[in-house]
Amino acid sequence: MIARRDLAVRVAARTDLSPTCFRIALATPEPLAAAPGQFAMVACGEGFDPLLRRAFSIAGVARREGHTLVELMVKEVGRGSALLRRAPLGAELRLLAPLGNGFTLSPGEGGPLALVAGGIGLPPLLFAAERLAAQGVAFDLYLGAATAAELLEAERCRRAAAAAGGELVCATDDGSAGEAGLVTAALERRLETGRRYARVLVCGPNPMLRALARLARERKLDAELSLEEPMGCGVGVCLGCVVELADGRMVPSCKEGPVFPASRLAARWSE
Ligand SMILES: Cc1cc2nc3c(=O)[nH]c(=O)nc-3n(C[C@H](O)[C@H](O)[C@H](O)COP(=O)(O)OP(=O)(O)OC[C@H]3O[C@@H](n4cnc5c(N)ncnc54)[C@H](O)[C@@H]3O)c2cc1C
Ligand code: FES
Repeated sequence: MIARRDLAVRVAARTDLSPTCFRIALATPEPLAAAPGQFAMVACGEGFDPLLRRAFSIAGVARREGHTLVELMVKEVGRGSALLRRAPLGAELRLLAPLGNGFTLSPGEGGPLALVAGGIGLPPLLFAAERLAAQGVAFDLYLGAATAAELLEAERCRRAAAAAGGELVCATDDGSAGEAGLVTAALERRLETGRRYARVLVCGPNPMLRALARLARERKLDAELSLEEPMGCGVGVCLGCVVELADGRMVPSCKEGPVFPASRLAARWSE
């Protein structure tokens, strides 16, 4: 297990990725390791506003010139994410990471892996894609968004998938880029033409997670879903993030997840 740390970090870089999303790199001289699917709780301002830290999936971790760079991709939806978007370069923030359990990245016997990302669900899957590409593990990456303008990091995704001999499949709800319609439908079309995957790794909005859980149940796919339940503490104390499992237990998704095998989740996820 990778030890979790509460670190002072500085804003080292920020780039807009779309009208609503941006990438931010947070630097610390301390070493930090993380696995794809794990997340960080970030104090988005320099004081106590907002009081609670916000949860963001780790999109990458790199060690460069004596610093660890933690990469996040953020959608601006409220106070915390707006503060992150406006924080000046060099501003000091706090970051608690790595938290939770990540995806299973080992290659399977039933074919390559399928990585399925919807909108701002991309960060943990981009981290997974670049890890898998570095290890030479084959995967296809399905990237969905509402419009072409909200398709995040498509070129970087294409490079990662191609490095391991895989394909990037883009889909937009309005058909402005890639295949028209839901990214889950793009995956289903390929399954219908005989494409087989050892495991499907998924992160995105809840309706997409439910569609994937349903598909996994119907087609007996091994699927892992990264849930994004609203979180207060990130460490299993406040119980604000509980999810129901198939055996009826209620568990904090920050500690037992955020990545869960679809088959472990209560039936309502796949109805
Ligand atoms: C494990 C995990 C990983 C996450 N990874 C990312 C990520 O990589 N990038 C990213 O942009 N966001 C991610 N999120 C969601 C992110 O935590 C929220 O968007 C963030 O807390 C919003 O903070 P805010 O202060 O800007 O907005 P707030 O003012 O707190 O909320 C604004 C609006 O967003 C809604 N909201 C808050 N949290 C969530 C949530 N978890 N899911 C859906 N709606 C929510 C609120 O109900 C409200 O309507 C993740 C959440 C979890 C639990
Ligand atoms: S966020 Fe507090 S218990 Fe999970």
